[in-house]
Amino acid sequence: MTKPTANISVEVGSNRREFLKLTGYGTLGLMAGGVLPFLTPSAAGQNQNTISGTGFDPDLDISLVSQPDEVAIFPGESTRVWRYRAMVIKGDPSRIIEIPRSYLGPIIKVFQGEKIRIRFTNTIPEESIIHWHGLHVPAIMDGHPRYVVPQGKSFLYEFEVNNRAGTYWYHPHPHGRTAPQVYGGLAGLLLVHDNEEQAVGLPDGEYDVPLVIQDRAFDRDNQLLYTSGNMMEQMIGFLGDLILINGKPNFTLPVSTTAYRFRLLNGSNSRIYKLAWQDGRPLSIIGTDGGLLEKPVNRQYVFLAPGERMELWADFSDNPVGHQTGFISLPFDGGGMGSGMMMNKRTSSNQNLPMGTRYSLFRIKVTKKKEKKASLPQVLSEIPKIQWNEIDNVNRPKQFNLNMGHMRWTINGRTFQMEDVAEDEIVQIGSKEIWEFNNTGGGMMRMMNIPHPIHLHGKQFRVLERNGVRHQGYVDEGWKDTVLLMPGERIKILADFEDYPGLFLYHCHNLEHEDMGMMRNYFVRETNTGI
Ligand code: C2O
Ligand code: CU
Ligand code: CU
Repeated sequence: MTKPTANISVEVGSNRREFLKLTGYGTLGLMAGGVLPFLTPSAAGQNQNTISGTGFDPDLDISLVSQPDEVAIFPGESTRVWRYRAMVIKGDPSRIIEIPRSYLGPIIKVFQGEKIRIRFTNTIPEESIIHWHGLHVPAIMDGHPRYVVPQGKSFLYEFEVNNRAGTYWYHPHPHGRTAPQVYGGLAGLLLVHDNEEQAVGLPDGEYDVPLVIQDRAFDRDNQLLYTSGNMMEQMIGFLGDLILINGKPNFTLPVSTTAYRFRLLNGSNSRIYKLAWQDGRPLSIIGTDGGLLEKPVNRQYVFLAPGERMELWADFSDNPVGHQTGFISLPFDGGGMGSGMMMNKRTSSNQNLPMGTRYSLFRIKVTKKKEKKASLPQVLSEIPKIQWNEIDNVNRPKQFNLNMGHMRWTINGRTFQMEDVAEDEIVQIGSKEIWEFNNTGGGMMRMMNIPHPIHLHGKQFRVLERNGVRHQGYVDEGWKDTVLLMPGERIKILADFEDYPGLFLYHCHNLEHEDMGMMRNYFVRETNTGI
């Protein structure tokens, strides 16, 4: 693996100075112990909209604007949304793929090793910042909420793509407003390709299909409904009553009689899907958050929690033209105050879609004959074996308890403070650590025990162990950045803090939980600098 280089330009240089201050403070703080208030960043909200020659020569240079817009989702009145719009300034224009008639941001295609510059301009009437979910980038390029920019201002991103090929995504990350901004339409896919993936020869072009699953609620005038803050939403988050695929309701995918690569993203705020084929055939899973698995695995069903991605091999070569199938979400018990708690009682809509019941996600219709036999490769990629002797804390994993405290979801009893890092949230650069997340409720009542998808910023990790009853609905084999913990589950992950010092987030990817403060910083400390 090539060592990534941090490409930091002049404009972000001011952030870098601020970062160094943080480093020093973190070291002092570790000796003092406890939860540390970091220095207020002078760079927060700073305008960085000048481009200057710093030696960073991007392979792809794009502008990305968040803006209010309107989209025709239904016949009749169009829907007011917030969305990302992109333009290629330098590089191949085909790297930006618009999804027609969708509020979703364009799909951004990049290759491993490329240098990327993204000039983000925020034109929605509130603060925002973009996070590259799943990408391994320097701390100041990661979209931490302390870098939010107000309406009319910009933030410059420059980094080298060093992730494996895979299905990643980008979305806003302002503290307390991520859920409404994503819900309003701000999200898009970022696909990384690399040589290892290209050598496998998976279906591509029109046979490589992105499928972003989201739930939304609309009023009678086709406008998005969003509420948060009542007790139920505090508990379980926001649930829409209509499933949209790539921004479209009642979605049907026309396919030919051949094999496809389906890239699924759960881009919903809170809704978890128990994904299965409608016709009962097993799912053939070829990739997860961090790219291709070592080899395909089969599951009857698989949970897909907010933030998670799943790549499937879908072969229709044995189906006649006219055949119909599709994907459904199967019933499951998500804990909470019985299934009643999972109900979405929205009176302004005549539909109802409780989470954990059986419903259709989208339909598939075989419409074309295609003599293109494709067989599922049995070797997809190389996933390194776990080197137990290299782990720095085998016998004392960091512990993170997911709990409700004072009617707020917490991690180890704490909620998010912009620059707080506790002693047990500091890691030394170069270390490999086991982190154990615990969703067993800490002896609290069962109604206080619900699913939490846990996400780490800045890196892909491995799942070492999962203690729970629902093993078969997970694909823990490959690289992950988001893992679902059902009520009663504990999970051990292994993360390698090989490079990139600084402040990164980890949080629940139920976006209402995240906004409520079920999010914390971890700090990767440079050991050798002495500051
Ligand atoms: Cu999609 Cu902080 O994450
Ligand atoms: Cu992320
Ligand atoms: Cu949560």
